[in-house]
Amino acid sequence: MQQDETRFKEQPLDIVVLAAGLGTRMKSGKAKVLHELGGLPLITHVCRTALSLNPERVYVVVGHQADEVEAAVRAGADDASVKFVKQVRQLGTGDAMMAARDALENSDNTVLILSGDVPLIKAETLQRLIEHHVKTGATGTILCVRMENPTGYGRIVRDAEGHFLRIVEQKDATPDERQIREINSGIYCFHASKLLDALQQVKPQNQQGEYYLTDVAEILRAAGELVAVYMHSDTREVSGVNTRAELAEFENLLRRNTIRQLMLEGGVTFIDPSHTYIGPEARIGRDSIIYPDVHVEGRTEIGENSEIRSGSRITNSRVGNNVTIKDHCVIVNSVVDSNCTIGPFAHLRIDVSMEEGSKVGNFVEVKNSRIGRGSKSMHLTYLGDATIGEKSNIGAGTVTCNYDGKRKHKTVIEDNVKIGSDTMLVAPVRVGSRSVTGAGSVVNKDVPPDSLVAGVPAVIKKHLQERNDEKER
Ligand code: UD1
Ligand code: CA
Repeated sequence: MQQDETRFKEQPLDIVVLAAGLGTRMKSGKAKVLHELGGLPLITHVCRTALSLNPERVYVVVGHQADEVEAAVRAGADDASVKFVKQVRQLGTGDAMMAARDALENSDNTVLILSGDVPLIKAETLQRLIEHHVKTGATGTILCVRMENPTGYGRIVRDAEGHFLRIVEQKDATPDERQIREINSGIYCFHASKLLDALQQVKPQNQQGEYYLTDVAEILRAAGELVAVYMHSDTREVSGVNTRAELAEFENLLRRNTIRQLMLEGGVTFIDPSHTYIGPEARIGRDSIIYPDVHVEGRTEIGENSEIRSGSRITNSRVGNNVTIKDHCVIVNSVVDSNCTIGPFAHLRIDVSMEEGSKVGNFVEVKNSRIGRGSKSMHLTYLGDATIGEKSNIGAGTVTCNYDGKRKHKTVIEDNVKIGSDTMLVAPVRVGSRSVTGAGSVVNKDVPPDSLVAGVPAVIKKHLQERNDEKER
């Protein structure tokens, strides 16, 4: 027994992910495996699960939009063990498997075959399938489930004694065979080189004129090899995405699971879970409250005791503890420290850092800027490429004029500054600590610390200066 366990652990594993098909039933210009579920392409879900099993190699069979599929895998499941093999023409799943021929020839490894369009399969389930395969000593093991509505799937045909005979596809099945509820999940384990030998014998003699990978099961059995069936109970996990309607169902399911886990294990309050959209990679701390119609996307982290009000979207951002995000805010690629307040209707467009206790209010857009501890910008303002020190106040209607038509320039506002309403800060420009600008100022040169820039006179002065310059020319 002990010996068996050791042997299992050492059994080298290769994984092949079939992802070359177009997915006609998606009615899309985009390959099926590139369609997104929970913000990640289907293929990324499968490849991440594959990598979690610590295989020696993962071969992704690409064909339709091979470059795009490859790029998606590299972006979301980058690992040295992932290799890509090309299926030139999509002649069926058996032919797709042949694309990995060179890699698996003369190999004694176990090969696990996954479908790029079966995204919710769990690593634990695959682990159990592999264990079963190794324990029975089978040459091939098929992961199967019983489905109330098996339409579209390959069926498991057994003999009178219940022994496995073959897999028959929906399109090739007799009316009797179509009554069978046991279906092929399209996930299998095989002994690598014996699989290849059997694949050589597959012929495209069926309704679809395709090389069926499923035929190898019958070929192996006929050659006296043991082909095992491993029954699993969760049908959702092994379901394939074939249409957009199914994709939407999966999205719903994934989201419900994510939110349920955040409620039960994470201690997060959701006012209306069925109308809240939380991506599978998001983290949210306990006692935070999420209102309806909130979208939390990508690798976003939200701390404890924070409150996110309706209509807000937070993407790839970090939000601290005790933060209030009022209604209808958009926050992208930004960092918000603890005790900050944002919105309503605020836009942290990209690369914004709000330090402890700072505030951004109504109709304020911020881009590539840092707002220091305790500083505030409460109304109708644009802050772009700006660095704002501590405890400064930015008055209503302030604009950092950061773009001269060609290039972007920086605005620096130091500590304890009061920027009056409607100040135009013509960058590059620096306002020193404790300085004040009057309402309506146009600040187009640096302001030393502790000074006052009067509003309208500054504009007039600039205007007169320009007239003088012109006369002199
Ligand atoms: C396949 C199985 C069926 C099983 C079902 C489970 C065969 C013949 N049938 O049917 O028994 O119940 O999966 O989901 O295998 N692919 C390629 N190259 C090709 C064709 C397909 O890489 O030439 C890839 C697709 O991108 C997809 C996977 O293989 O990821 C499955 O192909 P699909 O056409 O969806 O097979 P099904 O008809 O669903
Ligand atoms: Ca399929």
